[in-house]
Amino acid sequence: MSNEKVLIFDTTLRDGEQSPGASLSITEKLEIAHQLAALGVDVIEAGFPVSSPAQFEATKLVAEQVAGPVITALARANKKDIEAAGKAVAPAKNKRIHIFIATSPIHMKYKLKKSSDEVLKMAVEAIKFARAMVHDVEFSPEDATRSDMSFLIEVLSACVEAGATTLNIPDTVGYILPYEYGLMIARIKSEVLGIENCTISTHCHNDLGMAVANSLAGVRNGARQVECSVNGLGERAGNAALEEIVMAIHTRSDFFSKDQSKNLTVNINTKEIHRTSQLVSRLTGFVIQPNKAIVGANAFAHEAGVHVDGVLKKKSTYEIMTPEAIGLSGSRMVLGRHTGRHGFADRCMQLGFKLSDTDIERAYQQFLEIADKKKEVFDEDVAAVINNEIRIVEPVYKLLYLHVASGTGTLPTASVKVKTKEKITQAAAYGDGPVDAAYEAIRQAIGLSPKLEDYTIKAVTGGKEALGEAMVKIRDNERIFIGRGISTDIIEASAKAYIDAINRMVSAHARGDEGEIKAEL
Ligand code: KIV
Ligand code: ZN
Repeated sequence: MSNEKVLIFDTTLRDGEQSPGASLSITEKLEIAHQLAALGVDVIEAGFPVSSPAQFEATKLVAEQVAGPVITALARANKKDIEAAGKAVAPAKNKRIHIFIATSPIHMKYKLKKSSDEVLKMAVEAIKFARAMVHDVEFSPEDATRSDMSFLIEVLSACVEAGATTLNIPDTVGYILPYEYGLMIARIKSEVLGIENCTISTHCHNDLGMAVANSLAGVRNGARQVECSVNGLGERAGNAALEEIVMAIHTRSDFFSKDQSKNLTVNINTKEIHRTSQLVSRLTGFVIQPNKAIVGANAFAHEAGVHVDGVLKKKSTYEIMTPEAIGLSGSRMVLGRHTGRHGFADRCMQLGFKLSDTDIERAYQQFLEIADKKKEVFDEDVAAVINNEIRIVEPVYKLLYLHVASGTGTLPTASVKVKTKEKITQAAAYGDGPVDAAYEAIRQAIGLSPKLEDYTIKAVTGGKEALGEAMVKIRDNERIFIGRGISTDIIEASAKAYIDAINRMVSAHARGDEGEIKAEL
């Protein structure tokens, strides 16, 4: 049996970032891109450079600094977009330009206001223009699944002749069903002229919950690239979830090798899946539902007595893949007050964090504070310390003091002291609850009142001493800033998260980073 690769094209930083409410800073994008490289994705779609200076900058930085995967950028079928994409990916060793134009009657008539002949011509010219800049050009007929099939075959054949090296077939509105999508890919594979020199790719949205099933139907019928995103982030209901695609191909290789007499594999280091999923969740502020396949907190939890009994007797009775395969250690190594710097640094390394000496020292001081309040510090706590304290932007405001009084029948009140480089300010306020009172006091002390968009709090581990992790989203005009804070005291965690979000907002203003306009695709 011959081996064949299914390439994993990650679009977390482009389509994923288009999720309503997701907004990543340039440094956060870079951090995710490095993690995607560690995960082993074949292609990273780093952005849509023409849409804003921040998008351009982020794509360029990824192209400069992230080694391994092909770095690609999105462009509409016009010279300005293609030039911006080409310039942004230029520093990458392996680069690609990804061009799209809609081919469905509804998009051509109402959105583009172009005839099918005009669209075909634009696609061909765009590909030729891009090929003069890079050798690797991907073409996407947007809304392919609602396009006329004969026209689609004609456009795709012309694009191959013009120099496209990958043909991506987007189910832009998540409309198609797996059986139909499989047939569509099979037809493209047999009818598009020159297709033998091209890679067929899938790009499925999840509006009917079919994104992963559709992508896999595509693979079964000859697609050898899957476009997907971590945790399934993306426009509306999202894209095909990377972790589900990878683990399905991994776990059901028996199915994918049937009839095709080919052993399909992916280049992914599956042990990095959990870490990647957590990082993306934290930085985007999109909480993972507990029953989410592969990466949800309950994905490997067994509750029913009969299941627990079965798993204890033989794991494979109820587990089709192991938690270790996605990088869950299962170890409960406990640290405490007496763990020295060296032991702490060692544990951080084992958990996969590569930190500078200064960061280790910062994390260690924070760890000691937590270990003082909490007898046992678990791996999840260590990860929370690092993710919440180390990756923080240089704080303009620091919470020095917080006192909250609340109880049944009393008016919740809070007083705070906040430090900046120049001065210390304090304020007291009341609110609807202790968190509301603390937030009002912080607003008064700082003199800013960004709109609170979202607030969540969760326990990092179980038990009454569990560390609380708060996540806050604030809105500043069109932009959302996410802040996080941890503490064994949930009100303190909430206050820290709010101040973290304000710090991110203030730093963005100081850098002159006014964010990006989400471009119309
Ligand atoms: O969903 C879609 O059609 C897209 C294209 C730009 C590839 O994201
Ligand atoms: Zn899409």
